[in-house]
Amino acid sequence: MSSSFAEGSVPAHIAVIMDGNGRWAQQRQLPRTDGHKQGLTAARRLVENAVAEGVSHLTLFAFSHENWQRPGSEVSALMQLFAEAISSEGARLRKNNICLRFIGDTARFPATLRAGMRSLETLTRNGTRLNLTLALGYSGKWDIVQAAEKMAQAKEAYNEENFARHLATADLPAADLLIRTGGEQRISNFLLWQLAYAELYFTDTLWPDFAAADLHAAIASFKQRERRYGQLPQQHPDD
Ligand code: IPE
Ligand code: IPE
Ligand code: MG
Repeated sequence: MSSSFAEGSVPAHIAVIMDGNGRWAQQRQLPRTDGHKQGLTAARRLVENAVAEGVSHLTLFAFSHENWQRPGSEVSALMQLFAEAISSEGARLRKNNICLRFIGDTARFPATLRAGMRSLETLTRNGTRLNLTLALGYSGKWDIVQAAEKMAQAKEAYNEENFARHLATADLPAADLLIRTGGEQRISNFLLWQLAYAELYFTDTLWPDFAAADLHAAIASFKQRERRYGQLPQQHPDD
């Protein structure tokens, strides 16, 4: 599962829990939705900065399964924002040579939004500069259960390799670095299996404020980490 990783390298796969939009807006006496709009701007900025840093895979948690339980007005505003972004981002993604994919349980999403997601995936599928994954309606536990169902249907041997091929992230390498903004230090049912040996980085910066220097600081912290995968330092080839 885990590959060896040269100390000092840029993480190949960064996963981000983009948290703190609501508090960013509340601090400014603005509606929470304004925080989500700024959050979208911050996500666009991150994509550009990740490419500039040499990151090859970026996975963003934009809406969790549990977020459906928020007030209907906030959920509708978020669906509206996703719909607008999905219908307007295609040209930019193509121009920047980015491949975009969605992961998550989209059964509850409006049909038009689902159709927009599929066509954006098709439009960007040949992008080679950055592999961008947006987790919408995602839940780490959901992913594990749906992978288990598929593995049982396929009548395959129950082993880690077969299991990982049925996860929504089957095409992605394991996450190297998890960044969570907004000050909370928890996973909130994001990637569970895939974070097994990720380095964790928590920052108080609220998501709409997350800028190039913040990404750079997270990557710099990652480069200082010693990844041992349960071995002793002298056993690991990177030491
Ligand atoms: C993260 O920001 C975005 C989503 C969960 C959709 P929040 O909306 O959770 O912002 P806070 O945590 O309330 O500040
Ligand atoms: C996690 O943030 C989900 C996303 C960023 C999409 P939440 O704000 O939903 O997480 P909790 O409720 O603080 O754990
Ligand atoms: Mg939050």
